[in-house]
Amino acid sequence: MTQLIDIKPVAETADYRYARGWHCLGEADSFRDGKLHTLNIFGGRLVGFANQAGEISVLDAYCPHMGADLSQGELVNGRVVCPFHHWAYEANGRCSEIPYCKRIPPKAKTRRWLTCEVNKLLFIWNNPEGNPPAQGVEIPYLPEIDSDEWSSDWHIDLLTIETHPRELVDNLADAQHFGPVHGTPVKYFANVFEGHIGHQIFHGDSERLGGDLVADSAYYGPATHFTRMRAEFDGMTVHSILLNCHVPVTPNSFELRFGVLVKKVPGWSEEQNRALALEYVQNNRTSFYQDVDIWKTKTRVEAPVLAEGDGPIYQLRDWYSQFYMDEAQVPAEWAQRREIITADHR
Ligand code: FES
Ligand SMILES: [Fe+2]
Repeated sequence: MTQLIDIKPVAETADYRYARGWHCLGEADSFRDGKLHTLNIFGGRLVGFANQAGEISVLDAYCPHMGADLSQGELVNGRVVCPFHHWAYEANGRCSEIPYCKRIPPKAKTRRWLTCEVNKLLFIWNNPEGNPPAQGVEIPYLPEIDSDEWSSDWHIDLLTIETHPRELVDNLADAQHFGPVHGTPVKYFANVFEGHIGHQIFHGDSERLGGDLVADSAYYGPATHFTRMRAEFDGMTVHSILLNCHVPVTPNSFELRFGVLVKKVPGWSEEQNRALALEYVQNNRTSFYQDVDIWKTKTRVEAPVLAEGDGPIYQLRDWYSQFYMDEAQVPAEWAQRREIITADHR
């Protein structure tokens, strides 16, 4: 008999709420090419660009005049010129010129989104309540990004995944997929939840990377995940930082960016280090895409049936749910540190 499981994506209603938090839009410099960038995110259309000084701005893309898509217009002297009737918008979203009229209507403006640049990446702040980030809700600066001892860019890959991002975030507490999916059985696994930060500490035995693997990672808010990793690779210890961040497109799809920074081996030439970084990045991509393959076809299960040895999926989902509720509704005790050790076979 065929069994029917409760397989349903998130309802895509008009009042669907996207997570509160910073979301990465890729390398900041990619916006400094003198072009307008169409951003299909948070169920809408935005436009990103940089002015002559290199300051980046992200605006709602639909022109308040008659609805044309500003991202299809032109960037002229740091202003966005609408393709329909050539109203021109400043980086702050205000219309400053209408070619056929001197008086600019006060409502001739489009929303400017809050953005920040950290670790050479551009982030956009989403908050359905409209407030700026609370104190401490920020993306941490990683000094390695500016260090000569590390590779200088993230080698970012961009993928679109057709599911709700919760399916990806579940991974942070999933202790038992490392063996079957990545060939890296777990030796130690713990999670720490504290405010907007969700940590994972992982020690494993990597067949692919050949030896011990120690990874300390954290989500800073709902969508930005950095992992500091130490692995044996080609008989050497390689230090790296993985970037795994996403931004929702619709309730059931998101853009995911995966990147890797690698620490250079002292005494090696730039060429040798570049070759190592590329090989290592490729290995990490292979590992990561094993997760992606699962996400592409898995379903959304509201109440997973867990067994002893599984990680704290329910606690993780509680933590993640804070980004979908009003800030005033977030239980005060979630600001406290909660540590859960799932496995310790060291
Ligand atoms: S719709 Fe943009 S100027 Fe008319
Ligand atoms: Fe994984």
